[in-house]
Amino acid sequence: MLVKRIAIAGVILAASLPLLAQAEGNPEAGRGLIETCLGCHGIANYKNVYPTYPVPKICGQNAQYLVDALRAYANGDRGHNTMHAQAATLTDQEKQDIAAFFADPVYCYEGKK
Ligand code: HEC
Repeated sequence: MLVKRIAIAGVILAASLPLLAQAEGNPEAGRGLIETCLGCHGIANYKNVYPTYPVPKICGQNAQYLVDALRAYANGDRGHNTMHAQAATLTDQEKQDIAAFFADPVYCYEGKK
């Protein structure tokens, strides 16, 4: 049983290492790209929040998750017209820079602009 668990843990670790290495965004560059995003994604300390609109919070989210989500909206794997329009105009580097910005709470929570 224990051996099996260790084996499973090893497989999961091996599978996730390349993913961890992929997110190479620069939060400083991302800062210049996220003004429109803030209008919808309700983030503490930012004014434009729609309380009745269930826009997911993305500040503090895992960077790779954010990159994957933006790629999926851009290529249509994930369907949502507004987010498609947002993501489709971004280069892959811009997606990674934006992801790095939102993944780091120091940038997105504390209004460090
Ligand atoms: C007009 C409002 C609006 C704007 C502007 C907007 N978003 Fe979104 N975003 C949404 C909504 C609504 C969803 C949920 C869509 C769905 O159901 O998949 C979403 C979903 C997302 C998700 C997936 C979150 C998750 O938990 O899976 C990410 C990542 C994201 N947006 C990033 C961005 C970025 C980066 C920008 C700026 C380039 C941006 N959004 C601009 C409304 C917006």
